[in-house]
Amino acid sequence: MKLDITKALAFVSPDAVKALEPSVATANKALEEGTCAGNDFLGWMHLPSQTSAAFLAEINKCANVLRQNCEAIVVAGIGGSYLGARAVLEALGDNFGWLKPSDSPRILFAGNNISEDYLAELVEYLHGKKFGVINISKSGTTTETAITFRLLKKMCEDERGKETAKKVIVAITDAKKGAARTTADKEGYTTFVIPDNVGGRFSVLTPVGLLPIACAGYDIEALVKGAQDMEAATGLDVKFEDNVCSQYAAVRNALYQTGKKIEIMVNFQPKLHYMNEWWKQLYGESEGKDKKGIFPAAVDFSTDLHSMGQWIQDGERTIFETVISVDNVNHTLAVPTDEENLDGLNFLAGKRIDEVNKMAELGTQIAHVDGGVPNIRISIDKLDEYNLGQLIYFFEKACGVSGLVLGVNPFNQPGVEDYKRNMFALLDKPGYEAESKAIKARLA
Ligand code: PA5
Repeated sequence: MKLDITKALAFVSPDAVKALEPSVATANKALEEGTCAGNDFLGWMHLPSQTSAAFLAEINKCANVLRQNCEAIVVAGIGGSYLGARAVLEALGDNFGWLKPSDSPRILFAGNNISEDYLAELVEYLHGKKFGVINISKSGTTTETAITFRLLKKMCEDERGKETAKKVIVAITDAKKGAARTTADKEGYTTFVIPDNVGGRFSVLTPVGLLPIACAGYDIEALVKGAQDMEAATGLDVKFEDNVCSQYAAVRNALYQTGKKIEIMVNFQPKLHYMNEWWKQLYGESEGKDKKGIFPAAVDFSTDLHSMGQWIQDGERTIFETVISVDNVNHTLAVPTDEENLDGLNFLAGKRIDEVNKMAELGTQIAHVDGGVPNIRISIDKLDEYNLGQLIYFFEKACGVSGLVLGVNPFNQPGVEDYKRNMFALLDKPGYEAESKAIKARLA
């Protein structure tokens, strides 16, 4: 993985980035020594190097049981309990899901919304199919996931029988507490633990991400190896100039200080759409607090150049872009010659589609920089498990550093509780009587 910040340095001087070196060093040290705010949630820091081959074998063993017994596997989870797995599966899969090996179960995601139509259509699709469920919830009490699991557990038991259900339902949750743990222990499901010291959005390299990825047939050893190599490449002993996490954290904070309040994560491969979604949660939930923080936005190019391109080129100059570029695509396909040439595109005949895409990428970078948008470029060799493992750990580590440089606790999320309190009050949840009365009086 390479990081190029040179196209951001026209907007913020190299000195301004360098000036952040001491606070980046302090942040790196505090993360390493566990002395920063949120230090009870630093389990992700050395997770890659601490993941043993035996542990990965255990995950693969469970995945094989699910693969052998299921045509479809539903991953029930929300936020950090599903976005990482989805990001990796989408990046490694084919765009349409048509080309997956016929012996691989279809992986479906649910428990990430409260849409009656979504769930009714899922139930309809699963009806009569051999399906299993991976129920993922760190707290074990998240409403979206719990409603979905309640439906799927009953359906699985009704259609496949209690004994088979026990084999094809797996819980990934807290070691001791929460409804997901209680149910799993009572029913005798296979379980994996989300470590106490790993927050949801930093949990993709725990069983939360690893089991669904293994169920889809991907190489979790290579994924973890990529993360291990990035962990080693961004340690305390690595110089500021050579440390990609330190550089990314410094340049985005320097840009923020000059009024660039929005970072747009850009891809030129639709398979990276969910990587952007995962990144949005990681950075949004980690940095958006105490009335500060860069707003994380995302676009898929060139698709969104035809919708958001105008704003990015010409709107308020409060944005910067970070592009994830993939050097080598997995297929070879050229633009065909057309005798009539009615569309005038014969000048492209014989060129790889990816060459056209790369010129769209370069042309966009030049146009946006000319238009006042600082550009950071992350490039990876190709979309495979190893490179994705690197990218994941890179974003996690840089996020911890960046949040601390910003001066917030990157590892809590107090703001996400407010809507839940109101929802429970409006639904008359026992224990919420006072809140219920207050909110209903406000609405009267
Ligand atoms: O990052 C987070 O902590 C959140 O996004 C959670 O992952 C999300 O709310 C799901 O929580 P849980 O895993 O407890 O169901």
